[in-house]
Amino acid sequence: MTDPAPARLVVLVSGSGSNLQALLDASADPAYGAQVVAVGADRDGIAGLDRAAAAGVPTFVDSVKAYETRDDWDAALAAHVAEFKPDLVISAGFLKLVGAEFLAAFGDRYINTHNALLPAFPGIHGPRDALAYGVKIAGATLFFVDAGVDTGPIIAQVAVPVLDDDTEDALTERIKVAERAQLVDFVGRLVREGWTIQNRKVRIP
Ligand code: GRF
Repeated sequence: MTDPAPARLVVLVSGSGSNLQALLDASADPAYGAQVVAVGADRDGIAGLDRAAAAGVPTFVDSVKAYETRDDWDAALAAHVAEFKPDLVISAGFLKLVGAEFLAAFGDRYINTHNALLPAFPGIHGPRDALAYGVKIAGATLFFVDAGVDTGPIIAQVAVPVLDDDTEDALTERIKVAERAQLVDFVGRLVREGWTIQNRKVRIP
């Protein structure tokens, strides 16, 4: 029997793209079962786009400023992503909330990785907020995106310790190491094995 074609991943980024790089590296192995077919960004000049170009992966940029309304931007982003016929769309450090049109098109297969143990510390300063609160355990959450801010059904979580002398940078980096491994592991499992969601419970058979 021939192997099925690899699942098609579109990855959205806004920054350094280390999560993207982990997916690019993993997909070099055919047994991983997925391939990054495009990388989208909401801004130019970021390392994430350079990483995609270095890997020979097509890129596109949809900046909110380039559109008259946020809905126009959302529709353009959805159209760009759709061109690449993704099986899974991955927000990996993408700093924009998508809108109704994007969710109508991809809400059943749009996932995000967040650098906190949700539902604690949603938003863009997960490690900073966790440190300020004084928690002893931090981590990362992989989830399906819904219309809320970091509220969708949880696929996986990974914990790391918070050390007494942690700085925001040190904690952020410790989380990112665990987060990347979790992302690679679970994206592979989702595309190879499929999933169900019932009453917020995500199951990978
Ligand atoms: C990740 O830690 C993600 O949780 C947060 O931003 C970081 C993105 O890092 N929202 P990178 O661009 O993948 O290196």
